[in-house]
Order: sequence, then structure tokens, then C-alpha cells
Amino acid sequence: MTTTEPRPDYVVDLADYANDPDRITEFSVWNDDITSVIHAVEDNADAIFTWRYDKGERARLDKLYEKAKTSQWNGQTDLDWSIDVDPYKTLAPADPLEVQYFAENPESPLHKLTEDEWADLGVESMNWSLSQFMHGEQGALLCTAKIVETVPWIDAKYYAATQVVDEARHVEVFAQYLDQKLDGIKYPCNTHLGLLLDDILEDSRWDMTYLGMQIMVEGLALAAFSFMQQTTEEPLLKKLLRYVMSDEARHVAFGVLSLQEVYQGLTTAELRDRQEFAFEAALRMRDRFMRQEVWERMGVPVKDMVKFTLAMPDELRVFQRLLFSKIVPNCKKLGLLDAGDGWLRDRFTEIGVIQFEDWVDTGEEYADLDEVAKDREAAQG
Ligand SMILES: [Fe+2]
Ligand SMILES: [Fe+2]
Repeated sequence: MTTTEPRPDYVVDLADYANDPDRITEFSVWNDDITSVIHAVEDNADAIFTWRYDKGERARLDKLYEKAKTSQWNGQTDLDWSIDVDPYKTLAPADPLEVQYFAENPESPLHKLTEDEWADLGVESMNWSLSQFMHGEQGALLCTAKIVETVPWIDAKYYAATQVVDEARHVEVFAQYLDQKLDGIKYPCNTHLGLLLDDILEDSRWDMTYLGMQIMVEGLALAAFSFMQQTTEEPLLKKLLRYVMSDEARHVAFGVLSLQEVYQGLTTAELRDRQEFAFEAALRMRDRFMRQEVWERMGVPVKDMVKFTLAMPDELRVFQRLLFSKIVPNCKKLGLLDAGDGWLRDRFTEIGVIQFEDWVDTGEEYADLDEVAKDREAAQG
């Protein structure tokens, strides 16, 4: 579908169109002007000065800031860019049950793919995934620059400033990997990811930038990076992802530690707004993993693939569910699961991810994930 055809306004109530294949199939809506190299978003928030310069007033944010300063790394010198990469060898072995569902099922749009086409699909999917990671990282770069402006606490401004540098480095290393080791940057930002990034950046309330980016997008990214990091055998990508994860764990912790304080003071109605925002973000992220652009490029009917993926039996959705393994415990820690009448708990139950609620939350996990600090200690003997 292109933007010239009339389309319903899905944005008005996303939950009503949660599983609408037409909505999910759309892939050219966000990036419809392919001749433009920029995309502008209206930022509706005030930039806030604070005259309270008491460093350490929020001790846990201060600790995170000090940690961030000693865990910086350099994408040019800490990664070995001389490693030769064969794109076909970056791929993780596919889950045999998923392969069975997509390759052997006569109803599947992928049923007739040859062995070579499957290999090409793997390489396209890897390029697509890393491109989306890169675009998401740029979203994080803009969001944390916005947090520096909008958050009223000095400890949070200090910390967010370190995150801006982290996110610049993440965009840099993903772009470089695509450019030098894969076939260049071939995929534009996915529509559903782009719409979510727009929503987060447009909102005037400073805590929504945190909720959308630090908790939802970065929580999911941490799970997705971790999955790819554990499954790929390619040493440069493995180390790149491990270092990015060291930073991301801090970023999610920043969100959890900041919002815990804010959400204690909100009314049930205000919390309900946050619950709905979190759920819409979760839906958009589920939709963004449908690889619409890859199907288009491979000549596979996009809508048929979306429908077939939506109909996938729950027991096969291991990866899709794991993506929520950080988000759900973090929402619980913030009190969002059970606020009001437990609206968000019901929605997470409906999409089959509530079982992660008691997994470790990322408020505490970042020190364990700090590979950069461990490497430094090892180097010093
Ligand atoms: Fe990042
Ligand atoms: Fe991040």
C-alpha cells in the first residue's frame, strides 16, 4: 500500500487495529519521501534550566553517571575492524521449528524458496536487522539529547549527557559495520519503528521520552542485541554487540531509577495514560519485527507474510516473546503493570508475555553486563 491510497487513521486508537494485517503491512508510510535525506519531527517540550546544582542529590543516578564516565569505549580503537566478514557466516542457525513452519508448510508464502534464496533471505534479514538497530540508535541519540533539555534534575542531566555520547557511538559502529562488512545500508527505517520514534519525540511530557525510549525501545533492544550476540559466531559483530549491551543496560537502568520516583506521585488516570503509551509502544515494536521491507525486496507478498506470521502458533514465538523479557519486569518495577485495574497486566497477558514479570529487572543488572569494565580490569592484570 502507498500513502496515496485512502487509509484509516490507525493512530487514533491503535489497540482497535492491533492485529489488522493492512495496518501492519504498511511499510512506506513513514519514509514515503525517498528523495529526502532528512525527517523532521516537532518537539513540543520546554527546555528546562535548573538552579539546583547539588550533585549526588539522587545518589543512584549519580552512581550511574560516575560509572558511565569510566565505561566509555572507542568504536574505532576498541573493535578490530581488520576482521574479514563473510555475510553468509554472520548468520545464526535458524530455529528448526520456525523453519518447519515457514519452509515446509504449503500455506506459507516462503514454501517454494530454493536453498540459495533461503541463504539470501538470511543475509537480507541480517542487513535489515542491523539497519533497524542503527535507525533505532539514532532515535535514542535524539531522545537522550531531548532528556538533557527537559529533565528538571541535575543528576539526570549529567547522566543523560553521557548517554548522548554512547548513542552517537552506537549509530557510528552499526553504520560502519553495515558499510564496511555487509553490503552497505540497504534498508530505510521501518514504518512502525519510525512512527514510534515520532510519538516519543513529539510528546511534551518529559517522562514519556523516558518511558518510550529508556524502558520500551531500549528494553527491547537489550533483549534483541543479547539474542543476536549469543547466536552469531562472527567475532567482530559479537564484540560490537557485547559492548553496545554494556551501555544499553545502563540506559535502561537510568529509565527505571528516574521513573520510579516520578510514578510514585502520579494519579491513577495519569498512570493509565502511561500504561496505554507503553502498550502502544509494545505493539509497534512487535509490528516492526515483521520484516516488511525484506519481503518487498525479495518479491514475497508482504501482506501474506504478515498474515502468516500473525497466525504462527504461540509455542513457536520464542524470539518474539523473549523480546519482552526486559520490558515486562521493568514495567512491573515501575508499578505500571498493576496500576488502576491492572490494565497493562491484562494486555501483556493477552499478547502472551506476562510470564516475564518476575525476571530480573534492569535497575540492578547493569554492573553485571558491563563487559567494558571487565576487559579493562583484565588488561590491567
Ligand atoms: Fe544505544
Ligand atoms: Fe541506549
